[in-house]
Amino acid sequence: MNIPYARQWIEEDDIERIAKVLRGDWLTQGPTVDAFEQAIAEYVGASYCVAFNSGTAALHAAMYAAGVKTGDEIITTPITFVATSNSALYLGGHPKFVDIDPETDCIDISKIEQAVTPATKVFAPVDYAGFPIDIDPIMRLARDKGIVVIEDAAHALGADRNGKKVGTQADMTMFSFHPVKHITTGEGGVIVTNNEAFYKSMKVFRTHGITKESASFRLEEEGPWYYEMQVLGFNYRITDFQCALGISQLEKLPASLARRRQIAEKYYSGLNALKGVRLPPLPKNNQTTHAFHLFPVLFTDKDRKEIFLSLKEKGIFGQVHYIPVHLQPYYRERFGFKPGDFPISEAFYQKEISIPMFPKMSDEEVDYVISTIQTICG
Ligand SMILES: Cc1ncc(COP(=O)(O)O)c(C=O)c1O
Repeated sequence: MNIPYARQWIEEDDIERIAKVLRGDWLTQGPTVDAFEQAIAEYVGASYCVAFNSGTAALHAAMYAAGVKTGDEIITTPITFVATSNSALYLGGHPKFVDIDPETDCIDISKIEQAVTPATKVFAPVDYAGFPIDIDPIMRLARDKGIVVIEDAAHALGADRNGKKVGTQADMTMFSFHPVKHITTGEGGVIVTNNEAFYKSMKVFRTHGITKESASFRLEEEGPWYYEMQVLGFNYRITDFQCALGISQLEKLPASLARRRQIAEKYYSGLNALKGVRLPPLPKNNQTTHAFHLFPVLFTDKDRKEIFLSLKEKGIFGQVHYIPVHLQPYYRERFGFKPGDFPISEAFYQKEISIPMFPKMSDEEVDYVISTIQTICG
């Protein structure tokens, strides 16, 4: 056996869809980008969607649209990928972390308010592993304090929260399409929002800060070729052939989510009774569903590295999500973070291994992972 912790699911019909666009007129900035944006917006029930060439670029654009500037603070969790907070740093923002809640493995909502200062501009909660965080209290606090909420839902495409798809409850929500995610465009990401001003701002940011809309020109329009660069943006454009893959993948999302949930059920029934093994927490509200991007297990009684290596020896390639962001050398050296600052996150990191979870996993592979863990931990 040779089982990775995650893997893309690409079929011949996905490849055909890409090839069709490659044979056509538009490789980039064409109609397939618009069609993909529309398909994602419709799927989650959002008014607007802007696609980017990575989830990180999408977060950067959202932080920009939220108005993050030098000295502004953003509040997030240490148990995330570095991109969540880096995206604010690009704009001169400062990271503030709030420890996680062991009931959800996401940011501890009850501790957010005490971290707020007059400089706080953004809350960036993360739906870790695919667990949709309870966003309502976060939104209420944000509204009270004039703070923008950017939900990092890189792990949660297709999850439901209180009976609605994750994607419309925060001010802006990001999904990533990196190959290990629910759907892939190779690299890519989107922001969905119901806010027209944020939408317009991100569209301009995605393409160098350039606008071609004559209604918003600041100088006199000199001819039909005319465009204006009004702000400093980036080239964060995604290609049409990537979006063709995205559309094809989105059609398979329900099947892929259903398979992830089947695998999770097998893990819960096979591993739940095992001593020294803590399985991922589940939402308590039955209208809220986990999207199982990852299946993070805490090995509480044994050395994590030993377990990691024993699994590897048996052909099971786990991964660790995540080294707490504040402990990265860059964050320690620049902002003075140190071990002990966020003890719950640090203890979580010490014990965590994400075991294989991807829709193409066979039942035989799932059973093999279960029996190997039973042997190692038994
Ligand atoms: C929680 C989280 N945030 C942000 C990102 C960044 O997304 P991307 O890799 O598409 O830039 C990722 C993806 O790895 C992620 O897992």
